Amino acid sequence: MTTPLEKEIATYTEANPRSEELHNQAKNHMPGGDTRNSIFWDPFPLYVTDGNGTTLTDADGNKRTDFVNNMTTLILGHRPPEVVAAVAEQLEHGLSFPAPSPSVVRWAELMCERVPSLDKVRFVNTGTEATLNAIRAARAFTGKQKLLKCEGAYHGNHDAIQISVVPPIDQAGDAESPNSVKAFPGISDTAANDIYIAPFNDIVATEKIIREHAKELAAVIVEPVNGQCGMVPSKPEFLEGLRRITDELGILLIFDEVIAFRISYGGAQDYYGVTPDLTCFGKVVGGGMPVGAFGGREDIMSMWDPQEGTPTVQHAGTFNGNPMTAAAGVATLENLTPEKFDYLENLGESLRSKLRQLFAELEVPMGVTGVASLFALQFTSTEVVDYRTFATNDKDMLKIMFIGLLNEGFVMSNRCAGNVSTVHTEQDVDALVQAVRNVLTRAGYA
Ligand SMILES: Cc1ncc(COP(=O)(O)O)c(C=O)c1O
Repeated sequence: MTTPLEKEIATYTEANPRSEELHNQAKNHMPGGDTRNSIFWDPFPLYVTDGNGTTLTDADGNKRTDFVNNMTTLILGHRPPEVVAAVAEQLEHGLSFPAPSPSVVRWAELMCERVPSLDKVRFVNTGTEATLNAIRAARAFTGKQKLLKCEGAYHGNHDAIQISVVPPIDQAGDAESPNSVKAFPGISDTAANDIYIAPFNDIVATEKIIREHAKELAAVIVEPVNGQCGMVPSKPEFLEGLRRITDELGILLIFDEVIAFRISYGGAQDYYGVTPDLTCFGKVVGGGMPVGAFGGREDIMSMWDPQEGTPTVQHAGTFNGNPMTAAAGVATLENLTPEKFDYLENLGESLRSKLRQLFAELEVPMGVTGVASLFALQFTSTEVVDYRTFATNDKDMLKIMFIGLLNEGFVMSNRCAGNVSTVHTEQDVDALVQAVRNVLTRAGYA
């Protein structure tokens, strides 16, 4: 007897022969045909040829409504006219220069104007570089080595924080004092020894860990909305508590807003009213081009200042602040008005509440997490507030839903997380809710 997952995969395979062919070709030259694990799925990913507004077209000509927006990046949707025009204009003048361009000045100004804690900012090309540099700054500034991060948080692909991202529960240790577990082989022992792991959203347990190790801790790095566990928002008291304790103990507080910058005009710190010492950015701020940025307090950021001779901390990068990304970034930020954030928040809330109603009506063990424009399906009746509750998800049900939604004409991340852009509408929301219902019905859950 074929299982619901096998049925969905058979439908998917039949509808996407060109993507399958491309994937078989890709496997000849890239391991598993893949160069970015986060967008791989079984039996093969879709090969996309075009993005326009809310629509993705694949190599077979299938059109689907995209709720991924390149992992939360494309907040104005695919190919927004203002951003395309700015990039086209820059194309006429050059792709990259061995000198700063005027647009980077405007870009930095826009970031510092809207994000409360940013006295100064620096640009890089990935969120990974942003967290790497912020962590380095914290170590240089405090003269201390150790870090604290939350279990189940992803902060990019470098050793210092590729720890306890999705740790196997049987290795994760005590929930209130989790083990530090390397994400995979190849991460240095030093990185694993230099980090303490705290339970997200549990300020009592986290405070205990911080106080115990305060003398060695350079920084606490936290994602105000945990993307990897399904866009799980911090409880306000968690972030407020972290600020209070780190202030008291001389530890820097780093917000990783690579995703969470998306939740309000001034980012997550504006939304929560908590001011970190340093903040890391990516995704949205580059308008669809490769990007990262980090910034914060004047006295910390001045460590990079080269005007008085060799700066305390060195920072090079061939493509840092490149004019193509700067053009896209400026156009995006200039179009991201407070009204657009109100629209995103209302649409996101509508989607989450309609999904919750559906799950209640069908009596399926599912939930929804998220905030503002961010959402994720949770395949568990447990309320997801941290990594341990997230780990109760039914992974088979997730796979059925993910492939089933592709068959229904919707793209979500392969963890069934998503986000709305300013070009999504209530009709898109209703269509997605109906598609979720259809998949559940086909799979026999309803
Ligand atoms: C919270 C967070 N931090 C850092 C990163 C790393 O960004 P990048 O993929 O641009 O290196 C990501 C990427 O998804 C992220 O979600």
